[in-house]
Amino acid sequence: MQSSLQSATIAGAGARLVDVQVDLSLGLPGFHLAGMPDHACNEARTRVLTALRNSKCELPQRKITVNLAPADVRKQGPAFDLPIALGILVAAGLLQPPERQPLIVGELALSGDVLPVRGVLPVALEARRLGFENLIVPEDNAPEGALVQGLRVYGARSLLEAAEILSGLSTRAAARPPPPAPPAANLDLADVRGQGTAKWALEIAAAGGHNALMIGPPGAGKTMLARRLPGLLPALSFEEAVEATCIWSVAGRLKRGQGLLEARPFRSPHHTISTVGLIGGGSPLRPGEISLAHHGVLFLDELPEFAHAALEALRQPLEDGEVSLVRAKERATLPSRFMAVATMNPCPCGHAMDADPGRCGCTVQVKERYRRRISGPILDRFDLHIEVAALRSGDFLGLPQGEPSGPVRERVERAREVQRERYAQLPGIHCNAQLGGRTLRGLVQATSPAWSLLGRCIDDKQLSARAHDRILKLARTIADLKAEERVTEAHVREAFQLRCLDRPLEAGLGRFASLPRQIARKAEVHRSAGPPPGEAISREGT
Ligand SMILES: Nc1ncnc2c1ncn2[C@@H]1O[C@H](COP(=O)(O)OP(=O)(O)OP(=O)(O)O)[C@@H](O)[C@H]1O
Ligand SMILES: [Mg+2]
Repeated sequence: MQSSLQSATIAGAGARLVDVQVDLSLGLPGFHLAGMPDHACNEARTRVLTALRNSKCELPQRKITVNLAPADVRKQGPAFDLPIALGILVAAGLLQPPERQPLIVGELALSGDVLPVRGVLPVALEARRLGFENLIVPEDNAPEGALVQGLRVYGARSLLEAAEILSGLSTRAAARPPPPAPPAANLDLADVRGQGTAKWALEIAAAGGHNALMIGPPGAGKTMLARRLPGLLPALSFEEAVEATCIWSVAGRLKRGQGLLEARPFRSPHHTISTVGLIGGGSPLRPGEISLAHHGVLFLDELPEFAHAALEALRQPLEDGEVSLVRAKERATLPSRFMAVATMNPCPCGHAMDADPGRCGCTVQVKERYRRRISGPILDRFDLHIEVAALRSGDFLGLPQGEPSGPVRERVERAREVQRERYAQLPGIHCNAQLGGRTLRGLVQATSPAWSLLGRCIDDKQLSARAHDRILKLARTIADLKAEERVTEAHVREAFQLRCLDRPLEAGLGRFASLPRQIARKAEVHRSAGPPPGEAISREGT
């Protein structure tokens, strides 16, 4: 007496089909589970047999053998409980499955109730891709599965109800997707007084998806500024929302009845986070903060306080937009394309950049030790190094409210639209920061003075090839914000200034050059000129 039902296991941020085979044979009664189950999956034997007994299912005394095929793929979690229990009922002749089988996932409580599981959205996407018409999932997960169109999703509250759905006896209607959540209120940029340079730099970061590091004394408003970044970013596209929601589903972070993520994720892990918590890993493999921040922002407040190993582990994902995790019996590649925004003080007391040099009591060695907590390669991956200087009390009390987030987001949206059009033929590329080196140099049109200035800057400052590319991308974004087709010398100069504030930082954390003030003046000029007209944006020459 045999049966075969279809289920799925989580694989990375997706799902993979699993054939649940059950065999009932003569022999000593027992339960054998094969097919590389992990610990939670292996415990199915206890849950399934008790749930069947408590659901009043009269099983013949048989030896039960369960195989989860393909046998060489690691099976994660308790989601096989339900298909195994139903498979036993089918093999015992107590249940007749339909000809066109559904895909089934669900955990069983000892009482026979069906409990929610992780990863229903990627399972539903995989089911549709493979041509399944029906999906049986725990009741709590049904709205999540119903987000996938072209698939009938049935939520089961108990093992018996799942059996009725499988045999076609249930009158239960297919689940409907949850209604969209009302938009969450974002913090407004208008709350931040002054800081014109930092705001302009943040606008550039948002427009091009660039990584940004804010450096300044305590209480200058760095954290305040960073927390206002989500309000400047464009809305998630449908594809981005599906990708991001799949990761949240696999991580078990979706709330009951939650639909697709509406806003870009903003993850702000505490600096005591472990490398596994940040990057992902563990057993079973779980997405880390960098994957939860996919298509959103990873905010690293107080950067030097993070563990060195955790920061270094960011190198590869920051470059590749994905992270490859390998464990003894598991491997997975998880997407992690995020904007990194970090803050730090210039020295342990925080006053190395103050106008009054006497305010800083840190010795050069102390400053240097503090600075070395962040390696050169990590620093190199931040496109913008933004100085956030302390406000004088006069500034703070006398300054009017700044520009609100709304108009800034509109300019960002326009710049992003230009980029989307320009990169329409490049899969997976939506903004300047995502461009790879070769594509970048082929696509970015710059005037010859701009190219030669870029070359001179790189030679003079002995910057890396990565720095060259990142400055070029930054210059492209500045040009996009100003709706200019070609990158000019002025854009390169501005990009270089916004990027290279780490030079004084390296040279003993002296006071930063007066560059930010020059940039601030430019930002004012740009703003007073008003937003560039949309019609002026052209694909030609870019
Ligand atoms: N530019 C500003 N405009 C309005 N309020 C400000 C500004 N800067 C700081 N504040 C006020 O000071 C508080 C502290 O600011 P914030 O936490 O952003 O400082 P920080 O630069 O991150 O400091 P630290 O280096 O200590 O983390 C804010 O909650 C806000 O009330
Ligand atoms: Mg802070």
